[in-house]
Amino acid sequence: MAKKKTDKKKWAQDLPEAVKDLETKLTLSRKKKLSPPQERSWAEPYKIKMVEILRMTTSKEREKYIVEAGYNTFLLRARDVYIDLLTDSGTSAMSDRQWAGIMQGDEAYAGSENFYHMEAAVQKYYGYKYVVPTHQGRGAEHILSQLTIKKGDIVPGNMYFTTTKLHQELAGGKFADIIVDEAHDANSTHPFKGNVDLNKLQKIINEEGPEKIPYISLEGCVNMAGGQPFSLHNLKALRKLCSRHKIRIMLDATRIAENAFMIKKREKKYANHEISDILREICSLTDGATMSAKKDCLVNIGGFLALNDQELYKKACNMVVIYEGLHTYGGMAGRDMEALGIGIGESVNENHLRSRIGQTQYLGQKLLDYGVPIVVPVGGHAIYLNAKEILSHIPQDQFPAQTLTAELYVDSGIRAMERGIVSAGRNPETGDHNYPRLELVRLTIPRRVYTQAHMDVVAESVAVVFAKKDKIRGLKMTYEPKKLRFFQARFSKLRDG
Ligand code: F0G
Repeated sequence: MAKKKTDKKKWAQDLPEAVKDLETKLTLSRKKKLSPPQERSWAEPYKIKMVEILRMTTSKEREKYIVEAGYNTFLLRARDVYIDLLTDSGTSAMSDRQWAGIMQGDEAYAGSENFYHMEAAVQKYYGYKYVVPTHQGRGAEHILSQLTIKKGDIVPGNMYFTTTKLHQELAGGKFADIIVDEAHDANSTHPFKGNVDLNKLQKIINEEGPEKIPYISLEGCVNMAGGQPFSLHNLKALRKLCSRHKIRIMLDATRIAENAFMIKKREKKYANHEISDILREICSLTDGATMSAKKDCLVNIGGFLALNDQELYKKACNMVVIYEGLHTYGGMAGRDMEALGIGIGESVNENHLRSRIGQTQYLGQKLLDYGVPIVVPVGGHAIYLNAKEILSHIPQDQFPAQTLTAELYVDSGIRAMERGIVSAGRNPETGDHNYPRLELVRLTIPRRVYTQAHMDVVAESVAVVFAKKDKIRGLKMTYEPKKLRFFQARFSKLRDG
């Protein structure tokens, strides 16, 4: 034994520097103390069966690609992206059970068995009575908006979402922001920045009258605020106020399981509740929901409108045939509905949510350690870089967040999304840009797709770009589509002087 030890030491002397470094690190890490039980590491509650090989590019190639894409990451080809954090929408990895479900697709035009499986899952986990399938979330938003909003109506909501607000406007309504002020402050550490400010809502009710409010649009883990949850305490108070004035609450349930997990972690009363119980309680306080199943529900396509009101359901069934497909498929294939039914069950599993949100928090902590300004507290599905603070020398109408997405792509091939002035669009009355207080870059984490090592690479890239921030120049918009401009707008780089 003793002889072996001396041999190793001698052998170590001849190692290249880099390897010696590694040896020291390894030795040091052995001395680490054991973590207390509450700080023990999480790990993915699954193992990997198949991998997708990624293409690596050089920064020179990426400089060319981003110019060709008009500095808009939506216009890049996916094959030119290394780590794709554009969105968590439709980008999840499905489980072996979901893939097995795909093989059981019943592709009948009417009355597919898979529809009934999906309907039963929605009824079981969310508790709504009626389910209208749609091809994705905006299909459900379209039907709900057209059926309930009249010209001149006001739709109060806890911050806007792009497609949701547009459908409300196309139906003749006007969105009114009733989220708590803290949500607009990237640095506020309020644990429930998705909460509704009941005073703001009361003011609208007083001024406009409840009959002008078709419903409250309530989103879980508010996307545009940084993935911030609302509390059950707040929702109960909202329900009381709305019931008094006979106003419906329609939930945007897109990331509601993640919201339920945050409630368990942050709202003391619910610390020992099952996620599925919290989820059902949330839904029971609302009158229906639109769902983009491409997020929480772990599928690549799909959505639905869930309702308790039979009359509204009948109207929705009539409308879904015009725009999506028959009311037993709504634009989805039978196999998609099967995978969705199974995905709903998996989405409320606490181990899944712990690792899902744990991964987001891991990346957030790394960025905070590098001193990068991000939205806090870290939300459920993404890290939001505070572009307003990082590129404080670039005025908002030179698109700091859009600029930062392009810089990150060129640095390392990671793809992020602008969530600032470009996403906010123009004011339909004045024609001027909307100037949101939050000018953010979203690093959105697909579910069950990337590893912690990928997160390390992302954090390092953001830190490198952050270190050279003062040299970065803004952009000029060269093409602007009329609606949802962020998807297809094009830009060019502003030069010196
Ligand atoms: N509601 C929320 C909160 C969303 O985040 C989305 C989509 C939708 C509705 C619309 O659903 O895409 O299925 O039609 N969000 C994606 C994103 C696009 O990247 O955040 P959809």
